[in-house]
Amino acid sequence: MVKEQVGEFSIKGKDCLTLSDYTADEIKNLLILSSQLKHKHKAGEQNKALDGKVLAMIFDKHSTRTRVSFAVAMTQLGGQFLELSSKELQYERGESIEDTARILSSYVNGIMIRTSSHQHVEELAKHASVPVINGLTDLYHPCQALADLLTLQEKKGDLSQLKLAYVGDGNNVLHSLMHGAAATGLSLSISTPEGYEPMKKVWEAIQIGKQQGIHIDFHLDPYEAVKEADAIYTDVWASMGQEEEKERRNKVFAPYQVNQKLMKQAKSDAVFMHCLPAYRGLEVSTEVMDGAQSVVFAQAENRLHTSKALLLSLIG
Ligand code: CP
Ligand code: NVA
Repeated sequence: MVKEQVGEFSIKGKDCLTLSDYTADEIKNLLILSSQLKHKHKAGEQNKALDGKVLAMIFDKHSTRTRVSFAVAMTQLGGQFLELSSKELQYERGESIEDTARILSSYVNGIMIRTSSHQHVEELAKHASVPVINGLTDLYHPCQALADLLTLQEKKGDLSQLKLAYVGDGNNVLHSLMHGAAATGLSLSISTPEGYEPMKKVWEAIQIGKQQGIHIDFHLDPYEAVKEADAIYTDVWASMGQEEEKERRNKVFAPYQVNQKLMKQAKSDAVFMHCLPAYRGLEVSTEVMDGAQSVVFAQAENRLHTSKALLLSLIG
């Protein structure tokens, strides 16, 4: 049955710039495919469906998980990858995004990019004739949210019956989680300090969807947000590019640290989630990060399986 569901779904040739690019069914099917690929991989089955395909990966920011999971995903699926950065491309010397997109499209089957400007990625996708995957921009991190949804589903079951509390900065990771929650029926309670709320346009889109059973709410007090939660999620207080704000942010966000006291306000079997990299002693206490409720390494591992599902679906 699962196989038929996946068989009927096709997002071949599409971009993945945000999770809102996809329907709820498409996201659910990506999760089913990720899970199938994971089980087959663990059983030692090989899948070389991307034989002859090449993915260009452009990294203008640091990365461990995204870089390695996509590289390994391409390799395990029989394809190849190229690691680039805008600094090495003629783009840095003034060649247009339009020309860069057209030229790369004539060599490779897909482009994955991590850069600051989301608009830049949209421009690249507009002019590329191959799928463009957002490997993180200042606004969104869709690949991370896919792995987060898979992890939560594996650990806790039906997403539409669960409550996730996000405590911390209203950033790229949260925006994609909001899209993921809206698509899957996952309830999401958000708590950020004043002035660090998620972007208005993501909120507005969610408000429109509220009639369709989307449950996303906001609490200034993190202790309110985590009540009855099945999972508590946090991310760094200063994202890449915000290094100069670190000192100020560390003060503002201190009451939003995920520690044992906060975990105790959630359900007793709640899990702790973080996209990583994490800073112990800041957004999460060492005790919680390394404690029995933490599923952060499962999330990181799932980046591999969701990357494979995305690649197979878009360029397979
Ligand atoms: N979570 C995540 O995207 O990790 P990297 O920055 O290491 O890719
Ligand atoms: N919000 C973080 C996520 C890192 C994976 C950042 O953008 O740096």
